[in-house]
Amino acid sequence: MSRAVVSPCLKPFDLTLEAIAPDKSISHRCAMFALLSDRPSSIRNFLTGEDTLASLSIAEQLGAEVVRRDGDVSLTPPAQLREPDDVLDCGNAGTGMRLYCGLLAGVEGSFVLTGDRYLRARPMKRVTAPLQEIGAKIDGREYGNLAPLHIRGGSLRAFRYESPIDSAQVKSALILAALRADGPSYYRENFLSRDHTERMLRGMGASIKTDAEGWIVIEPLEKPLEPLEITVPADPSSAFFFAVAAAIIPGARVRIPGVTLNPTRIEAFKILEQMGAAIDYELEEDLYEPIGTITVAYNGKLRAVEVSERIAWLIDELPALAVAMATAEGRSVVRNAAELRVKESDRIASVLAALHACGIETEEYPDGYAIKGGTFHPALIDSHGDHRIAMSFAVAGLLTGMEIEDIDCVATSFPNFFDLLSQVTEVKL
Ligand code: S3P
Repeated sequence: MSRAVVSPCLKPFDLTLEAIAPDKSISHRCAMFALLSDRPSSIRNFLTGEDTLASLSIAEQLGAEVVRRDGDVSLTPPAQLREPDDVLDCGNAGTGMRLYCGLLAGVEGSFVLTGDRYLRARPMKRVTAPLQEIGAKIDGREYGNLAPLHIRGGSLRAFRYESPIDSAQVKSALILAALRADGPSYYRENFLSRDHTERMLRGMGASIKTDAEGWIVIEPLEKPLEPLEITVPADPSSAFFFAVAAAIIPGARVRIPGVTLNPTRIEAFKILEQMGAAIDYELEEDLYEPIGTITVAYNGKLRAVEVSERIAWLIDELPALAVAMATAEGRSVVRNAAELRVKESDRIASVLAALHACGIETEEYPDGYAIKGGTFHPALIDSHGDHRIAMSFAVAGLLTGMEIEDIDCVATSFPNFFDLLSQVTEVKL
């Protein structure tokens, strides 16, 4: 099994990181939404990670013509999406599988979505149940909860759906289905989850509005959408590993240009700021999304923090934030984060097991954890096949050294992560 050995960081670093991975959520959406146009889309800086390349391959299987040179992608959609002659493999990507469910539910044909062993164990009922309610024919193990999922696409009824969970994946799947429904549909969530789908589809000409009561109103498509003309910004969730690195290494500083400053994505930076790190945000452009530079600098020992609100805005960054919490003065607490249990791994269990291995005291709750700040010891960390666990504890390795086992998963979202980390310390792969 692949391993990384990270040495302690012996001197402070001051780096501008131009090569942070492009945004995963936006890249998935580019591959899929380009299929809703009748003209070629041009996507620059597409994430060439395994997850998003899987979404692009699926677009090809559905009839798109894809020309790709590194991250530059030209995607010409077919006149009509084609019934593929093989299964559609989403790899490790929950976003890929859940959004394609919504996109394909209203398309004539037979489609089988599958993925790796981790994805095949993750709950899909959250999208398949509301889609079944509006007429979609979807089945799979546990009555449509577990992949492989079979979709027999057909006509869909307009809906009014109030989601019990704040999930951008569920919201996006339902919005994509609504575009092919037989009338205007209404979707509401308790708390706004990341809103790339609404922003991008609106930018392509779809009618998606939020009314005074918080319902998202989606009109079915009358004609194909405008093509995408987009440069994917850097991924704040990937940037955050280096933000934590700068916040815990005395004298360190990182500048991350070209990153999305969408408020639904940068909450973890706000929490790190609350813990005492010096953070600056410079807005530079606004194309589908606000984009700019984030600078993070060490500013003394971090202080403990309690996090129980706006969880959807920092859910992916909680593992890296847990490393910051473990270095802080005092006891930090995370609550209302039960969603962590159904990510690429059970991230409550995998974060706490890794912290325990490093000698940090923790307490587990059904929906979160408490972490008592302390001193890291070097340890052997099992990533559980979860990219964010592997990268979070590689960053913890900057403090005292760390060995991380099962690191292939890093290629799903941030293929050059260890190259960038090598600019900070010695890394043996
Ligand atoms: C994503 C939404 C989030 C996030 C995931 C990507 C997306 O999941 O954790 O990494 O691109 O829509 P949920 O919306 O299911 O919470």
